[in-house]
Amino acid sequence: MKQALYRRQFLQFLAASPLFAAEDPKDMKDVFNVMDFEAKARVAIPPAHFGYLSTGVDDDSTLRANRAAFNKVYLRPRRMVDISKIDTSVTLFGESWPTPIIIAPAGSQKAYHPEGESATARAAAAADHLQILSTITSTPIEEVAKLHKRKIWYQLYPTNVWALTERMVRRAEAVGSPTLVITVDTQGGRNTETEARSYNLDSRDCSVCHPAPKMGRKGRRPIVMFEGFPLDSLSTANPAQNWETIRKFRQLTKMKIVLKGLETAEDARLAVEHGIDGIVVSNHGGRASDSTLGTLDVLPEIVAAVNGKMPILIDGGFRRGTDIFKAMAIGASAVCIGRPYLWALGAYGQPGVAKVLEILTREFRLAMTQCGTTSISAINKSHIGFHN
Ligand SMILES: Cc1cc2nc3c(=O)[nH]c(=O)nc-3n(C[C@H](O)[C@H](O)[C@H](O)COP(=O)(O)O)c2cc1C
Repeated sequence: MKQALYRRQFLQFLAASPLFAAEDPKDMKDVFNVMDFEAKARVAIPPAHFGYLSTGVDDDSTLRANRAAFNKVYLRPRRMVDISKIDTSVTLFGESWPTPIIIAPAGSQKAYHPEGESATARAAAAADHLQILSTITSTPIEEVAKLHKRKIWYQLYPTNVWALTERMVRRAEAVGSPTLVITVDTQGGRNTETEARSYNLDSRDCSVCHPAPKMGRKGRRPIVMFEGFPLDSLSTANPAQNWETIRKFRQLTKMKIVLKGLETAEDARLAVEHGIDGIVVSNHGGRASDSTLGTLDVLPEIVAAVNGKMPILIDGGFRRGTDIFKAMAIGASAVCIGRPYLWALGAYGQPGVAKVLEILTREFRLAMTQCGTTSISAINKSHIGFHN
């Protein structure tokens, strides 16, 4: 009841956004690359929501390190190769996808567009991209799963209440999700200062649409997947979790288990030893620990540690097809995209998300042609170099 009221008010709120009123959602003529969506999103999304989207932690230095990492690697183009046919497809756990570009899990997508995760699912399904749905989804998993032609993966924050964790796993299983992506990089909380500052830029009364975080713990936003569990005693983090917890998950489910948020060779080796099926090299888009290297910086040590024993996904600052190419050349199996599709969702809804996927696919394909690589397996370390 309350939920429906918040939703209605939120829709009215977004419908009043100047960008929605002024522009045809399909009119993206000024968008040339995925970064162009950020400026559009800044106008379309309420300041506090944009702050949540943009924030890193502390000084946002990890956020910047993610982007800076790509400038340390250069491409080594190859010529005189027959590039009339390019195959960008990858296989993950036996399933083939047309590109290595994956929708990263991101919470609360209705904060950017009334259709939230549903718009994302439709866009991802149309171009056949894997979607990973967040624990903090603002649309129930059952609804999102119906909109995607293929099986979506479910990202799990383990939470501090096992009964809730178990219920979320069962719901993911029930919609046929084959893979559980357990995010392990925010176990001790985080300090999202840029987000906190953005509240002061927002003069709107947040409580019109939802209980606002600045109203204190009691004012926490409802979390769709937590319905029925009292929010006050809940945390998305389980501070007690360790490698033993993996055993519990193995007993709980037959789904593949992927750990998201590993950043060192040591942890990658432990993941292999504990029978993890795959990892996402990630620092949560600079939203977990500050003062770390960019994810592309740490990818080589992780690829070496894993030594081909499981797929390695990566995310953090991927904005160009050449970024994706560099990660694939170092040894990634696929790449997840976060903010670009959220900006596009906020600015244009489903057509925006579709455009982001289209741009990145086109750019990645172009990078492959420039380097004379006609398939993913042809991409290797000889196609890149590292600046001193
Ligand atoms: C607004 C926002 C919400 C996010 N929510 C989640 C989440 O619920 N679960 C999760 O595992 N990661 C979450 N992430 C992290 C993304 O999955 C991904 O690691 C990150 O966005 C990649 O970096 P990029 O935004 O620079 O592409 C979120 C990121 C953003 C920007």
